[in-house]
Amino acid sequence: MGTETIPIASDHAGFALKEKLARALAEMGYDVENLGTSSEASTDYPDYAHPLAREVSEGKVRRGVLLCGTGLGMSYVANRYPNVRAGVAWTPEVAKLAREHNDSNVLVLPARFVTEAEALAILKTWLATPFEGGRHERRVDKIDHPEGTK
Ligand code: RB5
Repeated sequence: MGTETIPIASDHAGFALKEKLARALAEMGYDVENLGTSSEASTDYPDYAHPLAREVSEGKVRRGVLLCGTGLGMSYVANRYPNVRAGVAWTPEVAKLAREHNDSNVLVLPARFVTEAEALAILKTWLATPFEGGRHERRVDKIDHPEGTK
């Protein structure tokens, strides 16, 4: 298996932290696809969430990372795409549960509410935690396939 590509994107509120996390991901050995934004200039978060969510939804990448001020706008956009489960995580414990219970494939960070050290710990936990499956599999299936349609 080759190097995993991980796309990462933010708006202006998440820009500084996004750059730091992109570097950290590269240092961890991932092939980082930085989808912007590229400065602190005011931008619109949907412009960055759509391209990343599309890649995850279409299976071009397994998972991705989004940042905005609260994490909310990015998650609203990303979760409109089939097969995307974008979870806002503000502690490593939430990130762990987002993986174990919800099989989250997009990590969304609230850049204005976490420190760099916290964000890094959240990211590392999210990357390393497997989906638990079992009873959670049925629930996750029902997100895209309401009962009886799968
Ligand atoms: C930008 O000011 C802010 O609204 C945005 O980063 C995000 O928090 C939206 O959900």
